[in-house]
Amino acid sequence: MKKKFKIAVLPGDGIGPEIMQSALKVLDVVSKKYDIEFEFKEALVGGAAIDETGDPLPEETLKLCKESDAVLFGAVGGEKWDNLPTDKRPEKGLLKIRKELDLFANLRPGKAYSALIDSSPLKDSLIKGVDLLVVRELTGGIYFGEPRGIKEENGQKVGFNTMVYSEYEIERVARLAFDLARNRRKKLTSVDKANVLEVSALWREVVSRIADDYKDVELEHMYVDNAAMQLVRRPKDFDVIVTGNLFGDIISDEAGALTGSLGMLPSASIGEKYAFYEPIHGSAPDIAGKGIANPIAMILSAAMMLEITCKLPEAKKEIENAIEEALNEGYRTPDLWSPGTKKVNTEEITNIIIEKIR
Ligand code: NAD
Ligand code: IPM
Ligand code: MN
Repeated sequence: MKKKFKIAVLPGDGIGPEIMQSALKVLDVVSKKYDIEFEFKEALVGGAAIDETGDPLPEETLKLCKESDAVLFGAVGGEKWDNLPTDKRPEKGLLKIRKELDLFANLRPGKAYSALIDSSPLKDSLIKGVDLLVVRELTGGIYFGEPRGIKEENGQKVGFNTMVYSEYEIERVARLAFDLARNRRKKLTSVDKANVLEVSALWREVVSRIADDYKDVELEHMYVDNAAMQLVRRPKDFDVIVTGNLFGDIISDEAGALTGSLGMLPSASIGEKYAFYEPIHGSAPDIAGKGIANPIAMILSAAMMLEITCKLPEAKKEIENAIEEALNEGYRTPDLWSPGTKKVNTEEITNIIIEKIR
């Protein structure tokens, strides 16, 4: 019997639907080649869902996610919805899914492709060979801490949020990061702000304690300001980075830019029960609707799904190889284009990648 996977497809806003189409085309070819079956069901999220239903995460969408083997997510957000209160914005839809599915760890691999060395803002010698993985805590920290809000005090508005982590939240993401480091180059950098924040002092204490169970992995602690700097000074020295929600958001975009374009970085968000795959970039309103978005981050996110949910590491590898070949042959979407390379749009790069898999 063919293996069958139920996939919830949430294209979202801006370039979300454009890049999702590319990923689905690639998955279609992979399913034939590997003799598996996908049942794709699409649902509304973000601004698209607000326009239709008034809610960035309609109940049916959440239900579909919970009934599926995996969720593929494009991106949400855009100017049209920027003036809504925080709680009603498209981004809230994404944050609510992460929380509801308890997706506590977000894996964001950043790798330098040799064909794209020139697209990096860093010198060749610094970027060549970079291969790191940011493990970002995704369901806690300042993103979800209470109390939060904007209040009136002495005739002035005061905005406030709370950064909070409990031991078990730190422990579960740290263990996962150690496990991942163990299967890579055995180095883990824990990023915090323990010199200033109590929440970070606890983070450091818990990560250090867990390290006792992972004597084969080298652990270093680094303050987030220094980490941001070392990432551009000596990115090759990083293997796995584990950090909280906010620091992970910032550091992973930095990693994206280093390796050429944000349009290249995929991610997998995992918890005990569910798995969710999305590129790390946003809805890119500046290029939406033009058909020129780089679909590779989304395609690589689908490839992570093939490995983690479908247990087909060879299919993932095949997609990665196809992408690498296309880049080696000089094909570039505009975000990566430079003189001497061949400019292609979303559909063209997708078809080139597909031809190599077929
Ligand atoms: P962004 O990631 O959307 O865009 C930043 C820059 O990178 C833009 O110049 C954009 O054109 C470029 N870019 C991003 N992805 C690209 C791709 N695949 N191909 C080519 N170029 C790409 O970040 P932003 O501009 O700060 O945010 C825009 C909207 O997206 C906001 O509403 C924000 O809240 C939202 N957002 C959503 C997610 C998500 O859904 N996961 C992530 C980040 C931002
Ligand atoms: C990301 C995004 C989201 C985040 C936003 C859109 C809520 O920036 O996935 O990196 O901050 O987590
Ligand atoms: Mn982000």
